[in-house]
Amino acid sequence: MALEQKRILLVISGGIAAYKSLELIRRLKERGARVRAVMTRAAQEFVTPLAVGAIVGERAHTDLFDPSTEFDVGHIRLARDTDLVVVAPATADLMAKMAGGHADDLASTVLLATDKRILLAPAMNPHMWSHPATQRNLAQLIADGVSVVGPNEGEMAERGEAGIGRMAEPEQIVSAIEGALVAIPAVRSLAGKRVLVTSGPTHEPIDPVRFLSNRSSGKQGHAVARAAAQAGAEVILISGPVELPDPAGVQTVHVTTAAEMLEAAESALPVDVAIFAAAVADWRVAEPAPEKLKKVNGKSAKLELVENPDVLATIAHHQQRPKLVVGFAAETEKLIDHARRKLQAKGCDWIVANDVSPETGVFGGGRNTVHLVTKDGVESWPPQSKQAVADGLVRKIADALGGKGARA
Ligand code: CTP
Repeated sequence: MALEQKRILLVISGGIAAYKSLELIRRLKERGARVRAVMTRAAQEFVTPLAVGAIVGERAHTDLFDPSTEFDVGHIRLARDTDLVVVAPATADLMAKMAGGHADDLASTVLLATDKRILLAPAMNPHMWSHPATQRNLAQLIADGVSVVGPNEGEMAERGEAGIGRMAEPEQIVSAIEGALVAIPAVRSLAGKRVLVTSGPTHEPIDPVRFLSNRSSGKQGHAVARAAAQAGAEVILISGPVELPDPAGVQTVHVTTAAEMLEAAESALPVDVAIFAAAVADWRVAEPAPEKLKKVNGKSAKLELVENPDVLATIAHHQQRPKLVVGFAAETEKLIDHARRKLQAKGCDWIVANDVSPETGVFGGGRNTVHLVTKDGVESWPPQSKQAVADGLVRKIADALGGKGARA
């Protein structure tokens, strides 16, 4: 009964996948959850409020201005008296409304009024899913801190149509719900704290059009910044070039090179906590060419590289050293040994050692297997999403700093 006594508000919007919501409710109740349902007008074309109400065990909520509901629970209480809001299926239209902050029916009003985490299970035609407008709305919702499960690839209800757009299966949604509930950070546990996060790769110029870099996406660092902001911290995110939107509620500073990242980090001091998730290029080109380099008839070319400053080590040895300095280390072998050595060499308090050996499937995958290495020992965490790693790390940080209040 992993969801014992957890309150889940399920918003059902109008799509053929709405029939799977009944199965989802059944599985949530089997696990001990208390479910309430809100249905859009379009959802009622696919499943009836009577069917949903029968499985939930109380009437399904459908109208914003329904006197009996308003006197009984009211849309604000509906939005707040819950542990998690799940939207399944989430149509393109409801996602657009959420991204735009609209509130013209009960479902959209509840989604705007809630102060709880939201999990979306999108379901739509593949063309609607891949449309730039939907992808733009999705990026906005993720930046606002909304979690997403699916959609999956496969046959659609429309005959002959296949592609990405099928709603995640109920079992998949249940495990995303369990993950989201475990991951909810202790409420405002970092209130009054100033947190610095570095994220993404750096680009080191070779000439005006070429650079040295690496494959870092910035997903983990951005997730850490978002989790810290959700826990109430004032967050300064120093990001190398990434394709992610700036997280909501975070002050994002965009940099390109390692030298710029270091400068931005030093000017962010003093902070209580600094988390270095960036994959900083170890070298830069000694003298980038002022004009585009030309090839010279089959001759080999040489680049002279010089070592970049170590942002983490510099801040860890700074006069204004943060109380807690956390590094990341991606390793393919001797994970813990290497992490311990880096802890010592760089002068940080913790290292999040990231196992990227091929069998873990971390590269390219959404999940991450990490070990938290401290001076006192090693804690190994199960494989989980990058957001869950970020939430777990923020919880640990809040515990380590203990209590509330501004920096000493
Ligand atoms: N880091 C940094 N500045 C650098 C290099 C690394 O701030 N110039 C930080 C990273 O953000 C990370 C930690 O140091 O938190 C470890 O990074 P990693 O690349 O694993 O360390 P390196 O010292 O470069 O070790 P390796 O020889 O394994 O590349």
